[in-house]
Amino acid sequence: GALWDEYSSKVASRMNDPKHRGEISQAEATLMGGKLVVADFGAEACGDAVRLFWVVDENEKIVAAKFKSFGCGTAIAASDMMVELCIGKTVKEALTIDNLIVEKHLRDDENKPAVPPQKMHCSVMAHDAIKEAAANFYGVDRSVYEDSQIVCE
Ligand code: FES
Ligand code: FES
Repeated sequence: GALWDEYSSKVASRMNDPKHRGEISQAEATLMGGKLVVADFGAEACGDAVRLFWVVDENEKIVAAKFKSFGCGTAIAASDMMVELCIGKTVKEALTIDNLIVEKHLRDDENKPAVPPQKMHCSVMAHDAIKEAAANFYGVDRSVYEDSQIVCE
């Protein structure tokens, strides 16, 4: 059907077999020489929830990251891509990874959205999880980062 064809093959493969799903323990973070950051974010509208794990080194670089999710398939695919994009970036750089960047990376064809419009909000959850993690890392209130607007083309 038409809706079926609105999902990219990258979304399909990452929702079924995410590369970065899992968790990181305090012991693992210590072994890597970094600080463990754990952040939860839930989407009130649909009840989906994501938990993000970062290991951040002394240069504020995210040296490892994983996620767990009670989210829909699109949220899983978007979280997986978001985590991949976080790895190797500083916390400040990670904050610039908005939902549109995540969605663009999930496209098969640069001119065709990776998911149907109704699912764009699922990629916003990934960005909000980054803000939650950054707030935890800096020990500041989450409200210092603007709430996400759903961005779509
Ligand atoms: Fe979701 Fe436009 S695509 S609001
Ligand atoms: Fe809620 Fe996808 S339906 S994140």
